[in-house]
Amino acid sequence: MRIYRAKNYQELSRKAANIISAQIIIKPNCVLGLATGSSPIGTYRQLTEWYEKGDLDFREVKTVNLDEYVGLSGTDHQSYRYFMNDNLFNHVNIDRQNTNVPNGKAADLQAECKRYNELIRSLGGIDMQLLGIGRNGHIGFNEPEEAFEKETHIVNLTDSTIEANARLFDNIADVPGQAITMGIKSIMQAKRILLIASGKDKADAIQKTLFGPVSPKVPASILQIHQNLTVVADDDALSECGLGSEGMIVC
Ligand code: F6R
Repeated sequence: MRIYRAKNYQELSRKAANIISAQIIIKPNCVLGLATGSSPIGTYRQLTEWYEKGDLDFREVKTVNLDEYVGLSGTDHQSYRYFMNDNLFNHVNIDRQNTNVPNGKAADLQAECKRYNELIRSLGGIDMQLLGIGRNGHIGFNEPEEAFEKETHIVNLTDSTIEANARLFDNIADVPGQAITMGIKSIMQAKRILLIASGKDKADAIQKTLFGPVSPKVPASILQIHQNLTVVADDDALSECGLGSEGMIVC
């Protein structure tokens, strides 16, 4: 794995956007796996800025998002589809038909999971998957103790995830109890993974993910065995790894 150290969130966002734009330039019709949450907002903003400058072209890019709440439609401001439109898709020249987020309103959720798995396969797999990480080491909505071998599936959200995500809702009671998420297996099948983390509250999860035992107790720890993992993290997120101060570390 390759770890890039950034001084702060802004530097992290620029570095992550750099890596994603390199992917788009090398393969203009690449398939990007995307994430929501606080971590990638700066990255999406930076990509938008470079698009506006004329340095990036999303015309042929295809995207598949990691997850979506069950029961929310894309027009709901808390849905991940809305987040993606608002933070990236509305601002660049991506063809909306080429953007994919699981359908949280699907009448048959199992069929929706199957459709999503088939969709990823029909696109030829994911060229680069962007990931944030939860404080407990979750990726997507794959919580601790989830089996590593799952593809897209339905999860019941844990109380801690509901509490963490409640900040984005008016009321904790409004946070949906279930989500559709790509599984660890789907994530691990991506050709390249870009994990981003910022802040002291991610330091423990990052230390365990990168240097702890590979275990379902820390879902992201499986990334250690991915053949092409790049981590971009700021000083705070790397503070428990004991890595010194180099800007780039190859382990
Ligand atoms: C989002 C996702 C989650 C987040 C994680 C970190 O699509 O799948 O796993 O990446 O919860 O969230 P933030 O970035 O808000 O700390």
